[in-house]
Amino acid sequence: VNLDDILNKRQSIRRYTKKVPSKADINKVIDAAVKAPSSCNLQLWEFIYVSKPETMEAFAKKVTGKMNWASACIVVAYDPRLTVGRRAGLVSVGAAMQNLMLKATELGMGTCPMAGFRGDEFVKKSLGIPEEYEIPVIILIGYPEGESNKTYRSKPEKVLHFDEFESHRPQLKTSIHLDDWEQDAVLEYRSRIFSVYLWRLNLRFFDDENVARIWNGIEEYLPAKAEQGLILYPWEDSFIKKLKAYYKSLTLADFNKEVAQHYAEKYEVMGEVMVPGSPLKSKNHDTAFILNKLEFETKPSELLANANAALKPGGTLVLTTFDRRSLYITLLRWAIKLKYFPDVYHKSPFYKWGPIKFYSKRKIKALLAENKFEIQATKDVQLNLSDSMIDAFKGNKLVYMGLKVLTTFMRIGLKKEELHLIIAKKQGSV
Ligand SMILES: Cc1cc2nc3c(=O)[nH]c(=O)nc-3n(C[C@H](O)[C@H](O)[C@H](O)COP(=O)(O)O)c2cc1C
Repeated sequence: VNLDDILNKRQSIRRYTKKVPSKADINKVIDAAVKAPSSCNLQLWEFIYVSKPETMEAFAKKVTGKMNWASACIVVAYDPRLTVGRRAGLVSVGAAMQNLMLKATELGMGTCPMAGFRGDEFVKKSLGIPEEYEIPVIILIGYPEGESNKTYRSKPEKVLHFDEFESHRPQLKTSIHLDDWEQDAVLEYRSRIFSVYLWRLNLRFFDDENVARIWNGIEEYLPAKAEQGLILYPWEDSFIKKLKAYYKSLTLADFNKEVAQHYAEKYEVMGEVMVPGSPLKSKNHDTAFILNKLEFETKPSELLANANAALKPGGTLVLTTFDRRSLYITLLRWAIKLKYFPDVYHKSPFYKWGPIKFYSKRKIKALLAENKFEIQATKDVQLNLSDSMIDAFKGNKLVYMGLKVLTTFMRIGLKKEELHLIIAKKQGSV
């Protein structure tokens, strides 16, 4: 095997067999890790191999549920008090970690580095790691089960600069506000992050019960002879399944090629790539659905123009948006205003989608009129979203508990609607 083979083979593995790596193999892996360069050769790293089922179970509860994916992990610890400048200590640990993962790959093992965990103190106590140490990463390790999906990479030409830094690819912004972003940067963000999360998107917004509620709101407007349905920017599994059963043919369109392909294969339907502003190839759909996506769209008018062009005359558009008056959205907007989410990624429950924008009902109506849609009905559908949504605040125990209590009271007392549903008819072509 050459290095390229191993580089190409290494992927973050999130499903493992029950087989636990032997201590001899772990020894080989760490032998590779310690060959990494380190600042001043201080070799500040320590690796704690954890394979005791009791410890793994305790970690799964208190550190991260991702522990359940594997039977063993390597906790990486280092002393951050030395080589502070340029974070040289941490960079060195990163080099060791990569050696470790490549060696594991060569030996037929799989790994998944994880920064997404909590309970550092618990880990330190459980394993006897000194108080002053930091745990930058925990690496799951074991034998891969099944195939994993390749994640997106920018081409080397895009990140390599000769002699001068020129921007070859859209530069990501940090802002959570969609208006601060360019369209191509949003697409770039989504290409990167979607390729990780697409396979395990699990927001549970629309479980069967919620789908039924939405369905009740739209059913009377759907054609009796349902020929062609179109979902623009699909993402809710349960809703796609429902529509697949209803329509003779279903097309799923997204501006992201990977996303379009993924959904098309997963549901055995038509997948189309839709570039913002240029219409879809498939036309004459009876119904087009845009489900909670306007909020993430930098060019909503172009999206609606595409929907219009893809519908047959008199065709129906079903659009759902978050209701700005709903409790959750109100809290979310305040959290954004008060900078509880410092950037698009950090803490934001929507980081998998990127930056967000909330539209007023009036604005949505204007956009629809502009794109030759006549509104037939608007409804507010109450959804049971609170649990999954409020999970986003789990990191902050106090806020989390407060929200739990608050929503419980609100739910009993006010029965707030959460989803705004608009059914509109295509008037003419844009
Ligand atoms: C520092 C670091 C932290 C990461 N944290 C997590 C994590 O908490 N959970 C997870 O599932 N993957 C985590 N990953 C894995 C990345 O998602 C993954 O490396 C990336 O999507 C590229 O995919 P690939 O490793 O399969 O090539 C982490 C990776 C790195 C380098």
